[in-house]
Amino acid sequence: MSSFDKIHTVENNFAKSNPNYLKTMFGSTDIMPLWIADMDFEIAKPIQDALQQLVTRNIYAYEFNTEDVFKAISDWNFKRHQLKLNPKSFVQVSGVLTGIGVLIRELSEKGDNIMVQTPVYHQFYKVIESANRKVVSNKLKVVDSHYKMDFEDMERKLKTLNIKAILLCNPHNPVGRVWNEEELQKLVDLANQYNVTIISDEIHSDIVYSKSQFNSIASLDNSENHIAVIGSPAKTFGMQSISNGYLYIANENIFKQVKHTIGSLYLDHGSIHSANATIAAYTKGEEWLNDLVVYLEKTMNWIIDFIEKELPQVKLYKPEGTYQIWLDFSMLNLSDNALKHLVVHQAKLALTPGDWFEKNHIQFMRMNIASPLSKIQQAFYQLKEAIDTGIDPSFDKNTNANDCCSC
Ligand SMILES: Cc1ncc(COP(=O)(O)O)c(C=O)c1O
Repeated sequence: MSSFDKIHTVENNFAKSNPNYLKTMFGSTDIMPLWIADMDFEIAKPIQDALQQLVTRNIYAYEFNTEDVFKAISDWNFKRHQLKLNPKSFVQVSGVLTGIGVLIRELSEKGDNIMVQTPVYHQFYKVIESANRKVVSNKLKVVDSHYKMDFEDMERKLKTLNIKAILLCNPHNPVGRVWNEEELQKLVDLANQYNVTIISDEIHSDIVYSKSQFNSIASLDNSENHIAVIGSPAKTFGMQSISNGYLYIANENIFKQVKHTIGSLYLDHGSIHSANATIAAYTKGEEWLNDLVVYLEKTMNWIIDFIEKELPQVKLYKPEGTYQIWLDFSMLNLSDNALKHLVVHQAKLALTPGDWFEKNHIQFMRMNIASPLSKIQQAFYQLKEAIDTGIDPSFDKNTNANDCCSC
């Protein structure tokens, strides 16, 4: 039995299992929460020790340690991804989305267009639109059951729509693609040709499965004017509630400008808990991470096998990275409302609805698999039972999707 098999009694105040959130989002509290992208696993022992050490001191005077953090991130990326980063080119922010929010404001004006590859992590819409910029969707296309970037559509839009930045998700949440070097180089070359800055959100960079290889935007030729948001240990080490975000800005002028803005807003203060936990993670957490990736891959293989044998009506887009899986339920031929009813009220699962990632994806759902295998297996047994039983005869076809659950 591995430590990842341990079932923890999840506290109600974790966002994903908070009854108020579940009621608001899904219209039910009696559901297994597999929606928010965080982990059910205990953090690595070296991170526990680092946090414990701080807590036992009982003194919380101002304390900063960013230089050691930047060095730890650089060393990690060199060792893990053969990526050479200059520790002096990092800017710390309080979280990845905060960093992206600042970058969007620095690199564009109100009313400007920002491109994203959709379907995409739903907060990308918010971080763009709440800054009064407009989202331009460059839809991903499916080729042989595999999501690909549509470069023709991208170039047409770059040429005609006065796009100021591309907000890239690599590895991609929710479709699980880990963009390969060729795809990324094509993207960088197009961005350079049309004078557009890429902001590459690489928060999922360390959760990559055995047949794939992560490439940072910062590793590519002619990428010095683009920005990588790399080094947040949030997803890698399950530190969602305590981690900072790190911007890597190789271009000196943009670096100075962004650093000044972030400093003037005091967004670079961070907390020593986050700093020391990050250092512990990147200097002593590799063995734990290797075991985690093996565990997640084992879970994934179980799911692939189960779907193939027991649930062929559900299509899984096998991810190359991230601990999210992207499921297509359209073969069930259910109405959007009936599908939501079946998943939430019959299978009793809280999965992230596909229309959060792009409006027309209501027949898709994202499942977070960073949980003990036994829990994921239980989720699939419940799903199979609901699908085999069919939609509950008491379900009112005239129900509005939002009456069924407000997700
Ligand atoms: C692609 C991506 N970026 C950013 C975040 C959130 O990062 P943070 O909590 O550091 O703002 C998430 C969380 O799911 C994510 O998937």
